[in-house]
Amino acid sequence: MTKLDKLKQNGEKITCLTAYDASFSSLIDQAGIDILLVGDSLGMVVQGQNSTVPVTLDDMIYHCQLVARGKQKALLIADMPFMTYSTPEIAFETAARLMREGKAEMVKLEGAWAAETIEMLVERGIPVCGHLGLTPQSVYKLGGYRVQGRDEIEAQLLREEALLLQSAGASLIVLECVPGDLAAEITTSLRIPTIGIGAGKDCDGQVLVLYDMLGITIGKKPSFSKDFLQTTGSISTAIEAFIEAVKNGTFPGPEHTF
Ligand code: KIV
Repeated sequence: MTKLDKLKQNGEKITCLTAYDASFSSLIDQAGIDILLVGDSLGMVVQGQNSTVPVTLDDMIYHCQLVARGKQKALLIADMPFMTYSTPEIAFETAARLMREGKAEMVKLEGAWAAETIEMLVERGIPVCGHLGLTPQSVYKLGGYRVQGRDEIEAQLLREEALLLQSAGASLIVLECVPGDLAAEITTSLRIPTIGIGAGKDCDGQVLVLYDMLGITIGKKPSFSKDFLQTTGSISTAIEAFIEAVKNGTFPGPEHTF
Protein backbone atom coordinates (compact mmCIF):
# COMPACT_ATOMS: atom_id res chain seq x y z
CA MET A 1 0.00 0.00 0.00
CA THR A 2 1.39 3.45 -0.93
CA LYS A 3 1.58 6.45 1.41
CA LEU A 4 -1.30 8.04 -0.52
CA ASP A 5 -3.50 4.95 -0.08
CA LYS A 6 -2.73 5.00 3.66
CA LEU A 7 -3.68 8.68 3.90
CA LYS A 8 -7.01 7.92 2.20
CA GLN A 9 -7.62 4.92 4.41
CA ASN A 10 -6.89 6.94 7.57
CA GLY A 11 -9.04 9.84 6.42
CA GLU A 12 -6.05 12.21 6.43
CA LYS A 13 -6.27 14.82 3.68
CA ILE A 14 -3.57 14.82 1.00
CA THR A 15 -1.86 18.14 0.22
CA CYS A 16 -0.47 19.12 -3.15
CA LEU A 17 0.86 22.33 -4.69
CA THR A 18 2.33 22.97 -8.08
CA ALA A 19 6.00 23.93 -8.28
CA TYR A 20 8.18 24.88 -11.19
CA ASP A 21 11.61 25.66 -9.71
CA ALA A 22 14.08 24.55 -7.03
CA SER A 23 13.55 27.39 -4.53
CA PHE A 24 9.79 26.96 -4.29
CA SER A 25 10.17 23.20 -4.38
CA SER A 26 12.48 23.34 -1.36
CA LEU A 27 10.22 25.75 0.56
CA ILE A 28 7.07 23.72 -0.10
CA ASP A 29 8.81 20.42 0.65
CA GLN A 30 10.13 21.75 3.97
CA ALA A 31 6.62 22.88 4.90
CA GLY A 32 5.61 19.21 4.75
CA ILE A 33 3.54 18.96 1.56
CA ASP A 34 2.63 15.42 0.44
CA ILE A 35 2.87 16.01 -3.33
CA LEU A 36 4.69 18.47 -5.59
CA LEU A 37 3.08 18.68 -9.01
CA VAL A 38 5.08 20.02 -11.91
CA GLY A 39 1.94 21.04 -13.75
CA ASP A 40 1.75 22.07 -17.37
CA SER A 41 -0.01 25.10 -15.86
CA LEU A 42 3.56 26.41 -16.09
CA GLY A 43 2.63 27.30 -19.66
CA MET A 44 0.20 29.88 -18.32
CA VAL A 45 1.74 31.05 -15.03
CA VAL A 46 5.45 30.93 -15.95
CA GLN A 47 5.47 31.28 -19.74
CA GLY A 48 2.45 33.62 -20.06
CA GLN A 49 0.69 31.47 -22.69
CA ASN A 50 -3.13 31.51 -22.76
CA SER A 51 -3.46 27.72 -22.42
CA THR A 52 -1.36 24.68 -21.52
CA VAL A 53 -1.40 23.46 -25.13
CA PRO A 54 1.94 25.03 -26.21
CA VAL A 55 3.93 23.38 -23.37
CA THR A 56 6.51 20.91 -24.70
CA LEU A 57 8.03 17.78 -23.22
CA ASP A 58 11.42 19.53 -23.04
CA ASP A 59 9.80 22.35 -21.02
CA MET A 60 8.33 19.80 -18.61
CA ILE A 61 11.61 17.90 -18.22
CA TYR A 62 13.52 21.13 -17.55
CA HIS A 63 11.09 22.25 -14.80
CA CYS A 64 10.95 18.73 -13.30
CA GLN A 65 14.73 18.75 -13.00
CA LEU A 66 14.60 22.07 -11.12
CA VAL A 67 11.86 20.87 -8.77
CA ALA A 68 13.57 17.51 -8.20
CA ARG A 69 16.76 19.32 -7.09
CA GLY A 70 14.85 21.31 -4.48
CA LYS A 71 12.81 18.59 -2.82
CA GLN A 72 13.57 15.79 -0.40
CA LYS A 73 10.42 14.08 0.80
CA ALA A 74 7.39 15.04 -1.29
CA LEU A 75 6.19 12.82 -4.13
CA LEU A 76 7.07 14.41 -7.47
CA ILE A 77 4.33 14.15 -10.10
CA ALA A 78 4.83 15.51 -13.61
CA ASP A 79 2.21 16.36 -16.21
CA MET A 80 2.54 14.70 -19.58
CA PRO A 81 2.01 17.65 -21.92
CA PHE A 82 -0.44 17.97 -24.81
CA MET A 83 -0.12 15.23 -27.46
CA THR A 84 2.78 13.47 -25.73
CA TYR A 85 0.58 10.47 -24.85
CA SER A 86 -1.61 10.32 -27.94
CA THR A 87 -0.63 6.65 -28.47
CA PRO A 88 0.71 4.15 -25.92
CA GLU A 89 4.10 4.05 -27.69
CA ILE A 90 4.50 7.83 -27.54
CA ALA A 91 3.36 7.74 -23.90
CA PHE A 92 6.04 5.16 -22.97
CA GLU A 93 8.77 7.44 -24.37
CA THR A 94 7.29 10.51 -22.67
CA ALA A 95 6.97 8.82 -19.29
CA ALA A 96 10.47 7.36 -19.55
CA ARG A 97 11.97 10.79 -20.27
CA LEU A 98 10.01 12.47 -17.45
CA MET A 99 11.17 9.80 -15.00
CA ARG A 100 14.74 9.29 -16.26
CA GLU A 101 15.69 12.88 -17.06
CA GLY A 102 13.15 14.80 -15.00
CA LYS A 103 13.23 12.50 -11.94
CA ALA A 104 9.42 12.36 -11.82
CA GLU A 105 8.01 9.65 -9.55
CA MET A 106 4.54 9.57 -11.12
CA VAL A 107 3.14 10.97 -14.36
CA LYS A 108 -0.23 12.65 -14.83
CA LEU A 109 -2.35 12.63 -17.94
CA GLU A 110 -5.74 14.07 -18.80
CA GLY A 111 -8.95 12.34 -19.87
CA ALA A 112 -10.61 8.95 -19.70
CA TRP A 113 -9.88 8.29 -23.39
CA ALA A 114 -6.33 7.46 -22.21
CA ALA A 115 -7.46 4.56 -19.96
CA GLU A 116 -5.82 1.92 -22.14
CA THR A 117 -2.56 3.89 -22.17
CA ILE A 118 -2.74 4.20 -18.38
CA GLU A 119 -3.14 0.43 -18.12
CA MET A 120 -0.11 -0.14 -20.34
CA LEU A 121 2.03 2.38 -18.43
CA VAL A 122 1.09 0.84 -15.09
CA GLU A 123 1.84 -2.68 -16.41
CA ARG A 124 5.32 -1.38 -17.20
CA GLY A 125 5.87 -0.09 -13.66
CA ILE A 126 4.99 3.57 -14.16
CA PRO A 127 2.66 5.08 -11.53
CA VAL A 128 -0.05 7.22 -13.13
CA CYS A 129 -2.32 9.98 -11.89
CA GLY A 130 -5.48 10.57 -13.95
CA HIS A 131 -7.17 13.96 -14.41
CA LEU A 132 -10.92 14.32 -15.02
CA GLY A 133 -13.53 17.08 -15.11
CA LEU A 134 -12.08 20.24 -16.60
CA THR A 135 -9.09 18.95 -18.53
CA PRO A 136 -7.22 22.10 -19.62
CA GLN A 137 -5.44 20.46 -22.58
CA SER A 138 -8.93 20.02 -24.13
CA VAL A 139 -9.98 23.63 -23.51
CA TYR A 140 -10.70 24.24 -27.20
CA LYS A 141 -12.95 21.17 -27.36
CA LEU A 142 -14.68 22.06 -24.07
CA GLY A 143 -15.27 25.61 -25.28
CA GLY A 144 -13.60 27.31 -22.31
CA TYR A 145 -12.58 26.86 -18.69
CA ARG A 146 -16.01 25.73 -17.44
CA VAL A 147 -17.33 23.60 -14.59
CA GLN A 148 -17.90 20.01 -15.78
CA GLY A 149 -20.55 17.50 -14.66
CA ARG A 150 -23.30 19.97 -13.92
CA ASP A 151 -26.06 18.00 -15.69
CA GLU A 152 -26.94 14.37 -15.01
CA ILE A 153 -25.58 13.03 -18.32
CA GLU A 154 -22.17 14.65 -17.76
CA ALA A 155 -22.22 13.66 -14.08
CA GLN A 156 -22.87 10.00 -14.92
CA LEU A 157 -20.08 10.06 -17.49
CA LEU A 158 -17.66 11.40 -14.88
CA ARG A 159 -18.67 8.71 -12.37
CA GLU A 160 -18.00 6.02 -15.00
CA GLU A 161 -14.73 7.61 -16.14
CA ALA A 162 -13.38 7.68 -12.59
CA LEU A 163 -14.11 3.97 -12.14
CA LEU A 164 -12.54 3.26 -15.53
CA LEU A 165 -9.29 5.01 -14.55
CA GLN A 166 -9.24 3.13 -11.26
CA SER A 167 -9.65 -0.19 -13.13
CA ALA A 168 -6.88 0.85 -15.52
CA GLY A 169 -4.55 1.07 -12.52
CA ALA A 170 -4.35 4.81 -11.85
CA SER A 171 -2.93 5.57 -8.38
CA LEU A 172 -4.68 8.88 -8.02
CA ILE A 173 -7.25 11.05 -9.81
CA VAL A 174 -7.30 14.85 -9.98
CA LEU A 175 -10.87 16.19 -10.22
CA GLU A 176 -10.91 19.73 -11.60
CA CYS A 177 -13.91 22.08 -11.56
CA VAL A 178 -16.58 19.55 -10.67
CA PRO A 179 -19.60 20.28 -8.40
CA GLY A 180 -18.72 19.46 -4.79
CA ASP A 181 -21.52 16.90 -4.34
CA LEU A 182 -20.49 14.96 -7.43
CA ALA A 183 -16.81 15.00 -6.43
CA ALA A 184 -17.82 13.69 -2.98
CA GLU A 185 -19.82 10.86 -4.56
CA ILE A 186 -16.97 9.91 -6.90
CA THR A 187 -14.47 10.02 -4.02
CA THR A 188 -16.59 7.62 -1.94
CA SER A 189 -16.99 5.25 -4.89
CA LEU A 190 -13.23 4.87 -5.37
CA ARG A 191 -10.54 2.87 -3.59
CA ILE A 192 -7.85 5.26 -4.87
CA PRO A 193 -7.57 8.87 -3.64
CA THR A 194 -9.00 11.91 -5.43
CA ILE A 195 -7.30 15.30 -5.35
CA GLY A 196 -9.65 18.20 -5.98
CA ILE A 197 -9.15 21.62 -7.48
CA GLY A 198 -12.45 23.44 -7.56
CA ALA A 199 -14.13 20.17 -6.55
CA GLY A 200 -15.13 20.83 -2.95
CA LYS A 201 -13.93 19.73 0.46
CA ASP A 202 -14.83 16.05 0.25
CA CYS A 203 -12.06 14.97 -2.12
CA ASP A 204 -9.28 13.01 -0.44
CA GLY A 205 -6.89 15.90 -0.99
CA GLN A 206 -6.51 19.34 -2.53
CA VAL A 207 -4.20 20.90 -5.08
CA LEU A 208 -3.79 24.55 -6.00
CA VAL A 209 -1.64 26.32 -8.54
CA LEU A 210 1.13 27.90 -6.43
CA TYR A 211 0.86 31.31 -8.06
CA ASP A 212 -2.90 31.47 -7.43
CA MET A 213 -2.50 30.70 -3.73
CA LEU A 214 0.16 33.41 -3.48
CA GLY A 215 -2.17 35.95 -5.14
CA ILE A 216 -0.04 36.46 -8.25
CA THR A 217 -2.51 35.15 -10.82
CA ILE A 218 -2.29 36.84 -14.23
CA GLY A 219 -5.81 38.11 -14.99
CA LYS A 220 -8.91 36.80 -13.20
CA LYS A 221 -8.34 34.80 -10.00
CA PRO A 222 -10.15 31.42 -10.09
CA SER A 223 -13.12 31.53 -7.68
CA PHE A 224 -12.17 28.13 -6.19
CA SER A 225 -8.70 29.31 -5.19
CA LYS A 226 -7.61 31.33 -2.16
CA ASP A 227 -4.81 33.83 -1.69
CA PHE A 228 -3.14 32.48 1.46
CA LEU A 229 -0.42 35.15 1.36
CA GLN A 230 -2.95 37.92 1.99
CA THR A 231 -3.65 36.77 5.55
CA THR A 232 -0.23 35.39 6.45
CA GLY A 233 2.51 37.79 5.39
CA SER A 234 5.27 35.49 4.19
CA ILE A 235 5.46 32.88 1.47
CA SER A 236 6.49 30.11 3.84
CA THR A 237 3.66 30.83 6.29
CA ALA A 238 1.18 31.02 3.37
CA ILE A 239 2.27 27.54 2.27
CA GLU A 240 2.04 26.24 5.85
CA ALA A 241 -1.43 27.80 6.18
CA PHE A 242 -2.58 26.03 2.99
CA ILE A 243 -1.33 22.67 4.29
CA GLU A 244 -2.96 23.23 7.68
CA ALA A 245 -6.28 24.36 6.15
CA VAL A 246 -6.43 21.31 3.88
CA LYS A 247 -5.46 18.91 6.66
CA ASN A 248 -8.06 20.31 9.06
CA GLY A 249 -10.77 20.56 6.39
CA THR A 250 -11.25 24.34 6.45
CA PHE A 251 -10.11 24.74 2.84
CA PRO A 252 -11.91 24.71 0.48
CA GLY A 253 -14.90 26.43 2.02
CA PRO A 254 -18.38 26.77 0.48
CA GLU A 255 -17.25 30.00 -1.25
CA HIS A 256 -14.63 27.97 -3.17
CA THR A 257 -17.08 25.22 -4.19
CA PHE A 258 -19.38 24.80 -7.21
O1 KIV B 1 -1.21 21.78 -14.60
C1 KIV B 1 -1.58 21.85 -13.43
O2 KIV B 1 -1.09 22.64 -12.62
C2 KIV B 1 -2.65 20.96 -13.01
C3 KIV B 1 -3.37 21.30 -11.74
C4 KIV B 1 -4.25 22.45 -11.97
C5 KIV B 1 -4.08 20.13 -11.19
O3 KIV B 1 -2.97 20.03 -13.69
